[in-house]
Amino acid sequence: MAKKTATLTLNIDDETKCMDLPIYSGTVGPDVIDVGSLLSEGLFTYDPGFMATSACRSSITYIDGGKGTLMHRGYPIEQLAQKSSFVELCYLLLFGELPDGQQYTHFESRIRNHTMVHDQINNFFKGFRRDAHPMSILCGVVGGLAAFYHDHMDITVKEDREISAIRLIAKMPTIAAMSYKYNIGQPFNYPRNDLSYSENFLYMMFSNPCEEYKLNPVCAKAMDRIFMLHADHEQNASTSTVRMAGSTGANPFACISAGIAALWGPAHGGANEAVLKMLDEIGDASEENIQHFIDRAKDKNDPYRLMGFGHRVYSSFDPRARVMKETCDEVLTELGMADEPQLKIAKRLEQIALEDDYFIERKLYPNVDFYSGIILKAMGIPTNMFTVIFAVSRTVGWISHWHEMLSDSYKLGRPRQLYVGSSQRDYRSKK
Ligand code: ACO
Repeated sequence: MAKKTATLTLNIDDETKCMDLPIYSGTVGPDVIDVGSLLSEGLFTYDPGFMATSACRSSITYIDGGKGTLMHRGYPIEQLAQKSSFVELCYLLLFGELPDGQQYTHFESRIRNHTMVHDQINNFFKGFRRDAHPMSILCGVVGGLAAFYHDHMDITVKEDREISAIRLIAKMPTIAAMSYKYNIGQPFNYPRNDLSYSENFLYMMFSNPCEEYKLNPVCAKAMDRIFMLHADHEQNASTSTVRMAGSTGANPFACISAGIAALWGPAHGGANEAVLKMLDEIGDASEENIQHFIDRAKDKNDPYRLMGFGHRVYSSFDPRARVMKETCDEVLTELGMADEPQLKIAKRLEQIALEDDYFIERKLYPNVDFYSGIILKAMGIPTNMFTVIFAVSRTVGWISHWHEMLSDSYKLGRPRQLYVGSSQRDYRSKK
């Protein structure tokens, strides 16, 4: 596979040694150096946060952070967001190509026919406090799915992996909506299979037995776009967690539950919730007030950061944020909320930050989460559900990576460490 090599000169304890390390080239993007043979020299690499480490090969998603490019299976996210749908994107991510008409109909109907959850799962919910964070409910319930769907859980069988993928994609909106209904003390809604994926999610969230829920097509389209824009993002923290869990041979539901846990953190999927909290805290859109928060974000003695700004990979802009901003304007105009103070604060904050040297020098731009929270809030979705919605979208990315890993040769994920603790010492009781 390697056509090039890199020569590494090791100069350790006055001994010099050269090693030829294979270089692999991908379709696009930086080459990678295979450092595996360092182990034979008793050496490990050190790269906290995996800033320069490729842990796998993948053909699902490509990001060029410098150019602000995101492609799924080669298709730019902007084109997919404009012309495709979430369900079609799920097919693309899972199987590698866009479906033809027949493949699409078959795939969509498989998803529609798996939207309901086992009736016993309702009992799980009763064990949670009513005020439990819906992410904690999601982690628990998704992990628990393995107890119900063990009929097709042989991870070595491609068809079993596919049926687990379909089940997860189909049931996530149902479980997410149930978490919300449980929180607010309303009865659960069964899914309606005559609706599209995104319409059905909004219906399960907002319909109640006392009044008819009128679906707004602009909101349904925006929901579909939000699902699409979050569907996959190559080897991010939660996807790497799913791959790591999957490398042990764990079942798909356990792996996705691990991904949900990793997504929950405010540096990752929790950021959209954090953006809304930040906008609430900022409160008024006056220049001095916004400047005060910008100054805090720049102050090295203050841990405060502008939520929704910055990204580990994107250094020019986040292409998803552009589409999200457009969608935000569409939804707020449709709902007659274009003058919402939070939107005004967000736009002003973005403008000031983009002109400020601190943010320019560090290449800090609004990320996908900066506007998604405003859209979700305008649609009536409470803040604590934002990361849950991210998890619903990302499930297809997680399961596609898991499926890809298991379809290829893979190794148990087991990083090494730089040990900085005590060297060997003899036990002497301190009691
Ligand atoms: N506000 C203010 N300063 C920031 C911000 C921010 N949001 N983000 C980074 N910086 C500064 C850091 O203080 C640091 O400055 P220094 O070089 O003077 O020390 C520099 O920019 C680099 O920051 P790092 O933390 O080293 O960058 P890293 O790549 O590790 O972090 C992260 C990326 C976690 C996303 C960070 O930008 C952040 O915390 N953003 C806010 C949270 C957020 O929006 N997360 C969502 C990410 S997108 C997603 O998961 C869907």
